[in-house]
Amino acid sequence: MQIFRPRGTTDILPEEARKWQSIEEEIRNLCRIYGYGEIRTPVFEATDLFHRGVGETTDIVEKEMYTFLDKGNRSLTLRPEGTAPVARAYLENRLYAAPQPQKLYYIGPMFRHDRPQAGRYRQFHQFGVEIFGAEDPAADAEVITLAVEFFGRLGLTGLTLHLNSVGCPECRPVIREKLVGYFEALIWKCCPDCRIRLAKNPLRLLDCKEEHCREVGRGAPNPLECLCVECSAHFAQVRHYLDLLNIAYELNPRLVRGLDYYTKTAFEILIPGGGAQDAVGGGGRYDGLVGAIGGSPVPAVGFALGLERTLLLMKNKADPDAVAGPDAFVVLAGDTADAATRLVARLRGAGLATDRDYTGRSLKAQMKYAGKVGARYVVIVGEDELEGGNVALKDMETGRQTEVLLEEVVERLRRVLKK
Ligand code: HAM
Repeated sequence: MQIFRPRGTTDILPEEARKWQSIEEEIRNLCRIYGYGEIRTPVFEATDLFHRGVGETTDIVEKEMYTFLDKGNRSLTLRPEGTAPVARAYLENRLYAAPQPQKLYYIGPMFRHDRPQAGRYRQFHQFGVEIFGAEDPAADAEVITLAVEFFGRLGLTGLTLHLNSVGCPECRPVIREKLVGYFEALIWKCCPDCRIRLAKNPLRLLDCKEEHCREVGRGAPNPLECLCVECSAHFAQVRHYLDLLNIAYELNPRLVRGLDYYTKTAFEILIPGGGAQDAVGGGGRYDGLVGAIGGSPVPAVGFALGLERTLLLMKNKADPDAVAGPDAFVVLAGDTADAATRLVARLRGAGLATDRDYTGRSLKAQMKYAGKVGARYVVIVGEDELEGGNVALKDMETGRQTEVLLEEVVERLRRVLKK
């Protein structure tokens, strides 16, 4: 019986992989310009990291983690997100002892046992950045700017930036208390999940997707009006810097994010009309995370963007580098395998993208194949020509064919291809 890939996963085939590569290149280039170094952490971590880092009452920890016992009976979890692992690595590798701030970025697979649908997978990829050791609201503005610039560089317009502040351990209890006071009397109108949220995580009452719960929430107290003096001032500065940089945003006091580590700034980048999967990225400040996983407190801020969702948005646009076929395709005509094999090696050695036939098909079929894969030139290694030390060179764009000395064909191709 045939075996299929697990639900919620995808195979990225070469044509699609090229798009991934060009996005990854954009990311690496942008991160270099902004001064971020790459960090690669394991795809699995001690389960406890996410319990303590992401939060016991989040959907991720309650329902979505791929958790298993290894042969040594240790509980491990495939990382559902990158921030807690990077914070763990920052601590474990004593990056706090290096000059601060530490600016890190990552690209890699994450795993959540979500219900798969368009734009939502069980294995998906994120590009994320994290800054450790910076309290300054200008750092919040920097990561937001980076995210916005990334989408701008990909030519994705029409995205909206939603911005909020979710307070700190000083003002969060005030926000919570006010929300509980408001929702308690109305909770009978809300969904069963919201009833649990009221007891466990009242802030999340604000971002329930159920329409009747949202209706109830419309009259709820505005968390932004309950911020302490420090959080208010910090938020005002973040907004000031965004204004300074002409980054447009919408204030959204209902934006609470699905992870518990956030303090102060929280933001999301939304696809208009995207429905339940409307966020292409999100992030914020998390000044308590490093402390929660066993370190001394370190202020930090970052974001992660979903790469599958980014690519879905790009589907509507033309492929930036449409099919790049080989520079040369070597066609074998007659008993010329040795000469062709040597020629292919020389062409590749000269840095030219080169392919050849391996199926023993007819000359005509090889030419047709070369056309299909988009070869720019075809080199025909034929028995008769070879006796005179020649090969035939065909320009697939003009259709012109000339005889060239075998010894000179590499140089000639380098010259005409400017390589
Ligand atoms: P998040 O909002 O959970 O944040 O995920 C960030 C992005 O990952 C989402 O906006 C979405 O584009 C993508 N994403 C999430 N789940 C899926 C899925 N099942 N399928 C496809 N794409 C998905 C975080 O993960 C935080 N670590 C972000 C952060 C970094 N905050 C501070 N630093």
